Amino acid sequence: MIVQGSFVAMALAVNVLFLLALIYSVLGTPDGLPTDDLIRLSNPEVKQPVLPVTVTVIPEAITETVLATVVQVSTATVVTTAIVTPSAAADADDEEDVSPAAIAKARLKSKTYMPKQCDDPFRRPGYLQIPKEQSALLEARYVPYYDEILELPQVQDAVDREHAVHLFDDKPVEDAVMGTAPINWISMLKEHLFYIKVGRKNARAKTLERQLSWIRNRRILMAADSIDRFMAQHFCTALDHKFVIGPDGKHTTAWCTIPSLNFTIYHWHISSMFSNRPGWWAMDQMKRVSFEDRIENVYSRYIKDVNGMNGKTPDLILYQSNLWDVRGYAKSDEYKEGIETPNTYLRRQTTWSELKFFMNRQVQFIEYLRKFFSPDVPMMMRSVIPHRDQGKSDISLYEIDRMARFVAYNLGNEVFEWSHTVPGFPEIYRDDMHVNVSAQSTVYSDMLLYYLFRAVGGAQVRGKVTRWPSESTLSQAEAWEECHPYDFLTTR
Ligand SMILES: *[C@@H]1O[C@H](CO)[C@@H](O)[C@H](O)[C@H]1NC(C)=O
Ligand SMILES: *[C@@H]1O[C@H](CO)[C@@H](O)[C@H](O)[C@H]1NC(C)=O
Repeated sequence: MIVQGSFVAMALAVNVLFLLALIYSVLGTPDGLPTDDLIRLSNPEVKQPVLPVTVTVIPEAITETVLATVVQVSTATVVTTAIVTPSAAADADDEEDVSPAAIAKARLKSKTYMPKQCDDPFRRPGYLQIPKEQSALLEARYVPYYDEILELPQVQDAVDREHAVHLFDDKPVEDAVMGTAPINWISMLKEHLFYIKVGRKNARAKTLERQLSWIRNRRILMAADSIDRFMAQHFCTALDHKFVIGPDGKHTTAWCTIPSLNFTIYHWHISSMFSNRPGWWAMDQMKRVSFEDRIENVYSRYIKDVNGMNGKTPDLILYQSNLWDVRGYAKSDEYKEGIETPNTYLRRQTTWSELKFFMNRQVQFIEYLRKFFSPDVPMMMRSVIPHRDQGKSDISLYEIDRMARFVAYNLGNEVFEWSHTVPGFPEIYRDDMHVNVSAQSTVYSDMLLYYLFRAVGGAQVRGKVTRWPSESTLSQAEAWEECHPYDFLTTR
C-alpha cells in the first residue's frame, strides 16, 4: 500500500514536472531573465526541469559599493521573485492554472532556485576577520565563503627545513573576498552620526545620509536574555550613545536610542519559558517570570514605544531565553538530589520531558507575541552561544537550541545565526556567559542592521546593495516574506 502510494505520488510529481516543462517550452523563457542572478540549490530531489521564473526586473537599478568611498556605479539588474505566501503556494497544486504567477509559485515550491539576495551570508560557513588594532574593532567582519574562494591562487606551505615546520604568513583576507562580506553598516552608522553631530554637509555626509535613511524611525525589540542586552549596550556605546536601563531595573527594560535618527533597540528581559516563578528565583526585580504574565503586566505599557513605522509591530523581533531554561533545570537537580549545582551549569543532558516542556512553551511564546503584535512581524530566534568554559557541560544548552530551531522552523521564524562566531574565543567574555565588546559584538550589530535592512525592503547580495528600501515596492510584511521561504533551505 505504501509502495503503491509513493509510486502514485511519484508518477504525479513527474506529470506535474512534465506539464511545467511543456508550459516552459510553449511560453519560452521570459524576456530578460538573467539566470545568473539566481542560485541553483543542490536539491537532489528536483533536478529537472528548469522552471521559468516570474521576475520583476527593475531596469538600470543602481548597485552601489557602499563600502567604498568612491561610489562605483554599475548597471546590474535587480531580480525579485513574486511574493508567495504559504497558503498561496499550496494553490500551485492546481494543474489547470498556467498563469505566470502559478508557474512562479510552482517554481518556488520546487525549490530549485532562489534569488541571490536570499542567500543569507550569516548562515554560510565563514571566517571572522578580526582587526589587529583594538581601535578598529568596529571594522571586524564575518566573511562568508562563496565558491570564488576555491579559485584563489594556491597557497604553498613554506617549509622551514631546518626546523621542519610549515610557515604561513598572517595576511588579512584579500580585498576582493572582503568585498563579498556583508556590509559593515555599524561603521557607516558611526561615521554618519559623527557628521550629524558636527554638522558636516559634504558629499560623503550626504551619501551616508541617503544610504542610511532606512534606519530612521525604526524599532527593534529583543524579547531575550542578558546576552542580547549586552549586545544592545555594545551597539549603543560603539556609537557613543548612552545605553539606558529602565526604571524597573535591567531585568525588565533597557534600551539603546539614537535620537537623531529616532531609532531604538528595546530589550525586554524574558527569563526562561517557565510558567511561574520558581522558588529559587533570586532576582528581586523580577516578580513575574512567565512570559504571559510579564508581557501583560509589565511590558504592555511599553507597546507604543516598541512599535515601529507600521504602528503595530516592532520592525524586527529577536528572541532567546535558553540560558535561563537550563538554569531552571539545574536548580531542580539541587532540590531533587540535594546537591549543589554551579550556578549556570547543568552537567547532564536535558531530559526528554524538559525538552518537550520547552517546546510547548516556546510555541506558546511565539504565538503569544504574534497575537500581541501581529502574525506577520519578522521574528528571529537568536541561536545560543556556549559558556566561556565551554565543553564542560553545555550539552543541555545545545539540546535546547536544537529544539528552539525546530520550533522556529515549524512556526516560520528564522534563526539569527550569530553563534557561528563565538565558540572558541573564551577571551571575549566579560564573565562566564556574557560576550564583551569584541569583533563578535561588531558582527552582532551588523547582523541586526542586515536583517532590519531586509525587513524594510532592502536587498543585499555578496556585500553589495541591489535594492534600497526606498526603491522597494514591497510592503513591510512582503519584504520579509520575499526571502523567508528560502531560509530553511540554507540552514547549515
Ligand atoms: C519616531 O518613530 C516612531 C516609530 O516609527 C514614529 O511613530 C514616530 O512618529 C517617529 N517620530 C518622529 C518625530 O518622526
Ligand atoms: C570589556 O571590554 C572593555 C573594552 O575593551 C574593557 O575595558 C573591560 O575591562 C572589559 N570587561 C571585562 C569584564 O572584561
